[in-house]
Amino acid sequence: ADLELFADELPRMPKLLGYSMGYGEFKPRHLTIGMYDKQWKFHRDLLASTVFAYGTCRETATVPGPTIEALQGIPTYVTWTNHLPQSHILPWDRTIPVANFSSGVPAVVHLHGGVQDPLSDGHAFAWFTNDFNLTGKTWTKPTYTYPNVQHAGNLWYHDHAVGLTRLNLLAGLIGGYVIRNPTLEATLNLPSGREFDRLLFLFDKSFYSNGSIYMDPVGNNPDIHPQWNPEYFGDAIIVNGKAWPYLNVQRRKYRFRIVNAANARYFRLSLTNNLTFVHVGSDSSYLSAPVETSTVFLSVSEIADVIIDFTHCIGTESVMTNDAPYPYPTGTLISGGLGFVMKFNVSAGSPVRPDTSTIPTTLVNYVPATLPVNVTTRTIALYEYYKNNSDTTKPTHLYINGLSPDDPVTETPKTGSTELWQVINLTPDNHPLHLHLASIQMINSTALANSSAFTECMKALGDPNKCDLKGNLTDTVIFTPPEEQTWKSALKLEPGYVTYVIAKFNLVETGAPYPFDATAEPGYYYHCHILDHEDNAMIRPWKLVP
Ligand code: C2O
Ligand code: CU
Repeated sequence: ADLELFADELPRMPKLLGYSMGYGEFKPRHLTIGMYDKQWKFHRDLLASTVFAYGTCRETATVPGPTIEALQGIPTYVTWTNHLPQSHILPWDRTIPVANFSSGVPAVVHLHGGVQDPLSDGHAFAWFTNDFNLTGKTWTKPTYTYPNVQHAGNLWYHDHAVGLTRLNLLAGLIGGYVIRNPTLEATLNLPSGREFDRLLFLFDKSFYSNGSIYMDPVGNNPDIHPQWNPEYFGDAIIVNGKAWPYLNVQRRKYRFRIVNAANARYFRLSLTNNLTFVHVGSDSSYLSAPVETSTVFLSVSEIADVIIDFTHCIGTESVMTNDAPYPYPTGTLISGGLGFVMKFNVSAGSPVRPDTSTIPTTLVNYVPATLPVNVTTRTIALYEYYKNNSDTTKPTHLYINGLSPDDPVTETPKTGSTELWQVINLTPDNHPLHLHLASIQMINSTALANSSAFTECMKALGDPNKCDLKGNLTDTVIFTPPEEQTWKSALKLEPGYVTYVIAKFNLVETGAPYPFDATAEPGYYYHCHILDHEDNAMIRPWKLVP
């Protein structure tokens, strides 16, 4: 459909406080958030779509869901409830590892970037259906504890049911979660408050003309997987639940926390009319100092925390554009409406009240990324499988180290430790590597001399430690851009490169151990955050050991 650009105003998601005030002190709070099917208008001129939405009740549920505002050090308890219908609104592939579909849509919530114990982590097999009618093999309890013991920053929550993640997020099960530290925020004095500090959730969707969300019902290898496709790309760009919205802004600084909540699309954003981005944070962490750039580059699940100063705008509008090919980096080039994200209408005169916010020269310093002597090193290889090992345009599934999500755990870091993970991307595309619980930072990426030789070795021997990595390295090295030099939740893996990742299994702000039993069953996951890959089956369990 040809939808008019910049027709709807950017929505603001409802806010839920994750703490309460009593007798002058902050107290934990217990929230109940449900998942509901409801009608949602993604554009003024598009018929309403059936979506799955988070909310405190069906009427107030939104896409994205309510933003939870937690306080550092004050726990938030959430009872997640499932009110989803009997069958899915999107095509459901029963041939990939997938939750039981006999009694309602399974769902389970993961707080992305969150430091929480395994029983509150939203394990992929801890799914449950409407009224807890059916539960997955690792389900234990309806109420999750988010201790908020980690550094202040930006997280997000989303569905994580095994084999359904790509469908449940596309249907709308995403939402924001901010951990605040009022003392720190007062010191930094960045733009703040309801109007000048905004969350932007970016994703893409296609629609049938009746408004229903479109996902190709036929797979790329239908004889093997009737529905599964390697990447979902939609033809409309949605921000906070509206296609190509606009936002009226004053001529002053704003803070935007930009989340890539797409299934598979990368965003490389720019602003027209002389505006730039000043990065203050990446994923859930602050940078040590602000970094000004002309682009924001986000793989799936990454978060950029940026300041835009509209006083520098030439004229009265600035358009946010996207030019990242899909899949990234060698896929289709952007054209038409896909090149636009949203528009800012900038007021002509000076702001209503003077802008007293600042961008300090230094921000936050965490415990630096250093490797211990005799560091534990793990080698992890990502590659694709093809039908008859031939048609390389049509992967049937994607594995990590040749293992499926059901194979026993192979990564068992010690609690409190720091490890080196060398992650080899043998596919033609970039993949976002995400670890639950841990904080990760890229040292650099080095190009392989012959990635097909390594792939052949992997397919024959199934273990990257049995294949020659050292003899396969070139001296072509990529370093982390300054705006991503901090503790991250997800990292971009360049195709044909080995990426050296420092993974920290303690609290990065203090280096203190996790103040809960992180070694409990069922453990955690690491995976590619392209949801169609994660579902089939670029995901592996890992466990902390004492
Ligand atoms: Cu954002 Cu395991 O996910
Ligand atoms: Cu991937």
